[in-house]
Amino acid sequence: MQKNQQVALITGSARRIGAAIATHLHALGLNVVVHYNHSKTQAEALCDELNKLRAHSAVAMFADLAVSDLLEQFVRDAAAVWGRLDVVINNAARFYRTKIGETTRAAWDDLLNSNLTAPFFLIQAAVPYLIKQQGCVINIADVHGQRPMKDYSAYCISKAGLIMLTQSFAKELAPAIRVNAIALGPTAPAEGENKISPAVASKIIARTPLARVGDLADVARAVEFFINGASYITGQVLAVDGGRSLTI
Ligand SMILES: NC(=O)c1ccc[n+]([C@@H]2O[C@H](COP(=O)([O-])OP(=O)(O)OC[C@H]3O[C@@H](n4cnc5c(N)ncnc54)[C@H](OP(=O)(O)O)[C@@H]3O)[C@@H](O)[C@H]2O)c1
Repeated sequence: MQKNQQVALITGSARRIGAAIATHLHALGLNVVVHYNHSKTQAEALCDELNKLRAHSAVAMFADLAVSDLLEQFVRDAAAVWGRLDVVINNAARFYRTKIGETTRAAWDDLLNSNLTAPFFLIQAAVPYLIKQQGCVINIADVHGQRPMKDYSAYCISKAGLIMLTQSFAKELAPAIRVNAIALGPTAPAEGENKISPAVASKIIARTPLARVGDLADVARAVEFFINGASYITGQVLAVDGGRSLTI
């Protein structure tokens, strides 16, 4: 390992957008902590692939982010792997409907704990390490953190909170640590109960000025910008959404 090799912790990075971010940062030369909850097999497979490219450059680490009293230890363990932590990316999130009248307290707690409380306490635990490296935090938000999506209020509220967290922490942690957010529009196809029909997908594209959904590389490049090209930028929310937020 090179002595000044940066280390990034990416939550929820076994698959989909998080895995694309981890893979991109690894290709840029960072070592990566691939965090997972249920997707152990995918996390380990991704790390095997990355370690074949560069020995001891990726590790898979488990944490259920909804269990907040374990987060400090999780960050300590992540920082201990290579003795440093330069970048924290809060990517993991829960996403499902919470219609008014049908929403349980358990669903609210699950969404808010995973999407907002966990990033708060993860960053808090990472501060001493990030200060040391003059590091940065990137929170993966959503265009629906600023404009509501019908039937998904708890998710939208969690992402709205994540945007305020970004701004509050940017102020409090400057000048040592930069904190920014990326508000995504439709990118990786929704799964399970969130799946949309081809007709709805076409409608969304028709209402997106750049006339397509985002791809994984669009997100990865924005993350790279906040790490390597944004030394005078903090507290900002960059919409990577093809202009979708202009038409919601
Ligand atoms: N997909 C999109 O088009 C889109 C659009 C707008 C915003 N976003 C945002 O972009 C980010 C990535 O999106 P995505 O669609 O790739 O996400 P995703 O597949 O729905 O979730 C990413 C990972 O988050 C982890 N996770 C969720 N709750 C967790 C918890 N309590 N503890 C630990 N891990 C947890 C899961 O890990 P395990 O699989 O290991 O359990 C999951 O694989 C999210 O923040 C999302 O809100 C996505």
